[in-house]
Amino acid sequence: MGGKNMKEKALELAQQNGTPLFIIDHDRIRQNYRTFKKHLPRVQAYYAVKANSNQEIIKTLFDEGASFDVASYNEFMQVYEYIRHYKKKDKDFYIWDKIIFSNTIKDRDTLKKIRRYKPLVTYDNAEEVKKIKAYCDTAGLVLRLKVPDIGSQVELSSKFGAEPGEALTLIEQAFDLGLVVEGLSFHVGSQCTVFDNYTAALDIVSQILQDARSRGYNVNVVDIGGGFPVPYDSHVPQFEELAQVITAELARLFPEDIEIIAEPGRFMVATAAGLVSEIVGKARRDGKIFYYINDGVYHTFSGVVYDHWIPNFDVLSPGDHRDPTDAMEICAVVGPTCDSFDKVSLSQQLPADLRIGDYLYTENIGAYSTASSTRFNGFDGAKILHVNKVS
Ligand SMILES: Cc1ncc(COP(=O)(O)O)c(C=O)c1O
Repeated sequence: MGGKNMKEKALELAQQNGTPLFIIDHDRIRQNYRTFKKHLPRVQAYYAVKANSNQEIIKTLFDEGASFDVASYNEFMQVYEYIRHYKKKDKDFYIWDKIIFSNTIKDRDTLKKIRRYKPLVTYDNAEEVKKIKAYCDTAGLVLRLKVPDIGSQVELSSKFGAEPGEALTLIEQAFDLGLVVEGLSFHVGSQCTVFDNYTAALDIVSQILQDARSRGYNVNVVDIGGGFPVPYDSHVPQFEELAQVITAELARLFPEDIEIIAEPGRFMVATAAGLVSEIVGKARRDGKIFYYINDGVYHTFSGVVYDHWIPNFDVLSPGDHRDPTDAMEICAVVGPTCDSFDKVSLSQQLPADLRIGDYLYTENIGAYSTASSTRFNGFDGAKILHVNKVS
């Protein structure tokens, strides 16, 4: 139900279910996962649950055989749900093989709770190593490195990642304490459209990996993080091209015995959801039309704030009342709450004659949207509807 079809079907679904309506297409999730695997065959894909932690999405990806990147104990438990009934040996193997705690800072309580699972966890500083030793000494460690993230929609390197110059000291520190560093990781920033960020990061990692191995530390996992770009508009470079670049660099830099993993979030889910919102108010302010809709930045459009995302709107209503010759105007689209900050967009080209009750459609809204939605002002947020779910 991707692309045009999804939009057409959305009108019917909104009429049946009401608005705001967040429609998740599970065929598209499966397709995204398969595309990722096809073009990056050497890479084990750990879905970054933070992008959209909806339980049904996790289920679909679990059934596809995906691995998972979790940021918290609760996200871990969302995945655990599907292996709860496994025999202990199989459960332990699954957790060891298919789950990574990618948050470099974990509180003591979380570490205590996950100790029994012998988890793979990331770290990027000396305090964290001591904390892991004290509260979760069964863990395998992955050292996250600071890499260039310039030009990515969401930059992460200002908050995370060890300086490459500190890497060996941090690896030594962990081994000296009796812990095991299994790998190195990085994140080039989310929605990364600058391929050089990946190549630069892979170079940095390869250098550190060689240094570590030459000192006898058997580090054998490279985690290339997330950041894989989604085609929000026609200027975004193709994932397939990026995958070719990464595949060539992996072959050039890392021997076959090095395991390569990744933590794609946005790529798996962004294109798999669309939102139908409804115009609930209309006013002209300083000459500009303001369309008030029943969803906003405190709700499904939270990505406008947290994800620096710029949404688009299409008119979805059959619009019997509309005059096809009526002009388009630059309009504002704003949310339903009483906060003036709740403005989704101040410049959307939209027909000037839209009315209360008309629907708007926003595509590619599956990532970092419902995941960070609140219930501010007592608005529930969008109803979630699943289509093409297998079970
Ligand atoms: C550690 C980590 N891994 C993976 C991701 C997912 O990144 P993306 O959605 O860009 O693929 C994020 C996003 O913030 C992250 O912080």
